[in-house]
Amino acid sequence: MKNRDVQAAWKYHEGTKHSYWSIRTNPHFLDWANQPLPFKIYPTVEPILLPQDVPQTGVAAISERVSVAGGDSVPDLRDLARILFFSAGITKHRKHPGGEIYFRAAACTGALYEIELYVVTGELEGLDAGVYHFNPADVSLRALRKGDFRGNLARATTMESAVACAPATIVCAGTYWRNAWKYGARTYRHFGWDNGTLLANMLAVAASSGLPAEIVLGFVDADVNRLLDLETRREVSLCLVPIGRTSEGSPPAPQEAPPLGLETIPLSEREVEYPAMLEMHEASSLASEDEVAQWRERGKQTVLPASAPAGEEVRLQPLPREEQPTDTIEQVILRRGSTRTFDKTASITRAELSTILDSAARGIAADFLAPGEQLNDLYLIAHSVQGLAPGAYFFHRERNTLELLKQGKFRAEAHRLGLEQQLPADACVDVFFLADLNRILGGYGNRGYRAAQLEAGAIGGKMYLAAYAQHLGASGLTFFDDEVTQFFSPHAKDKSAIFLLAIGKPLRRKGQ
Ligand SMILES: Cc1cc2nc3c(=O)[nH]c(=O)nc-3n(C[C@H](O)[C@H](O)[C@H](O)COP(=O)(O)O)c2cc1C
Repeated sequence: MKNRDVQAAWKYHEGTKHSYWSIRTNPHFLDWANQPLPFKIYPTVEPILLPQDVPQTGVAAISERVSVAGGDSVPDLRDLARILFFSAGITKHRKHPGGEIYFRAAACTGALYEIELYVVTGELEGLDAGVYHFNPADVSLRALRKGDFRGNLARATTMESAVACAPATIVCAGTYWRNAWKYGARTYRHFGWDNGTLLANMLAVAASSGLPAEIVLGFVDADVNRLLDLETRREVSLCLVPIGRTSEGSPPAPQEAPPLGLETIPLSEREVEYPAMLEMHEASSLASEDEVAQWRERGKQTVLPASAPAGEEVRLQPLPREEQPTDTIEQVILRRGSTRTFDKTASITRAELSTILDSAARGIAADFLAPGEQLNDLYLIAHSVQGLAPGAYFFHRERNTLELLKQGKFRAEAHRLGLEQQLPADACVDVFFLADLNRILGGYGNRGYRAAQLEAGAIGGKMYLAAYAQHLGASGLTFFDDEVTQFFSPHAKDKSAIFLLAIGKPLRRKGQ
């Protein structure tokens, strides 16, 4: 079982760390003439245009956990259109001298959008049963297979109940080259981050639509890739998201899924393959139903014991309910866009920060997490938060407090840790995600590495939404791995840096 040989994940992780020297000695440059297409295009398959007049849910982006009704809840085409658009649709576009960028609903490293969405559905109102690809460029689905293939997913997940009872399941897949063009072998980490931010939107919009949804990472990779007919040296399935629930009984039996041989437009003239990523993917793949069953068992167990605070604690207090912003999830997603310059003279309030951390602490629904569990720990550098002394903190999510690790003004250090970029230095607060990879890999095998990156992206995505709901700004960032651990040590010793989000107030230029 390759998944248990966790040296593979360590090798990949160590080999893709950023350090002062790796950045300066990496000869990588951007070959603009060979820039990949941001869309997967099947030129020979007719599009099924998705309805554009879908009513919005009207549910506030910051709300108590939206209660999803028990019993059957079956999406129709309009629900699917809403969920797909607000997860991966084009929400803005901007011209620049070299062309145009089509920005999407969720943040994504380099705006390269390497995550593709597919839908495997039974018969729905407005849509025949089939396997579809979603194309955000023309907001359409293209049928890759006709018929009900939900049984194939049920088998691939050894009858995971959410998948087996779902009227439709969205499969997220990662396209290596589209992101590796800029980021090389580090793209495998970006798969988790960029899939995660998209999932934060997807879970929020599904819940607002009254539909249960969760993230499923326990599946036989080869079976799902075969169903989508992916060319696995170039694109691989990353996770499943069952949408809705039906009590109509078990799904139909799995069907043969022969190769389709459908033409797709090449992304670039040439593609470069990064063996480190193919190895990491292979080593974290589940090959049998037994391995899937073990994965699921592991997910039901408690992962990490909460550490007791040793230093001074500051209590977090989210905005009282009546003061929470009422902007809807759709408004907030349309408004979101990573802050490009923070106003370093601005501050945010402790209540605003508490509200963002509260949304992070609620975690995500995933098959690898027991309720209330989380793989990543959150460490903060607060620069200018009213009611919070500048300094480094650890977030005790189960206690709803911040433990002061060291007091001081650390803008220069934040600049350094965030790859010497200005954004983390000018933000009001930087939130670093660190994970105890030894423990995670020991419990879950190499696939735990995928889970840690994906969870960080999904929680980071929720924090983006909670920030923008409050009219604040945020940006994901990359970092110097080992220096982050050193900065938060001794508390963080033995943990690895996974993700970084800067939060603050966007600089408003004159006339804006
Ligand atoms: C995980 C993650 C890491 C990112 N890292 C950086 C970064 O290091 N520097 C930066 O300027 N922007 C960074 N970004 C922001 C992206 O460039 C931005 O999301 C992308 O251009 C899409 O734009 P939008 O977020 O405004 O929709 C990051 C975003 C994510 C999700």
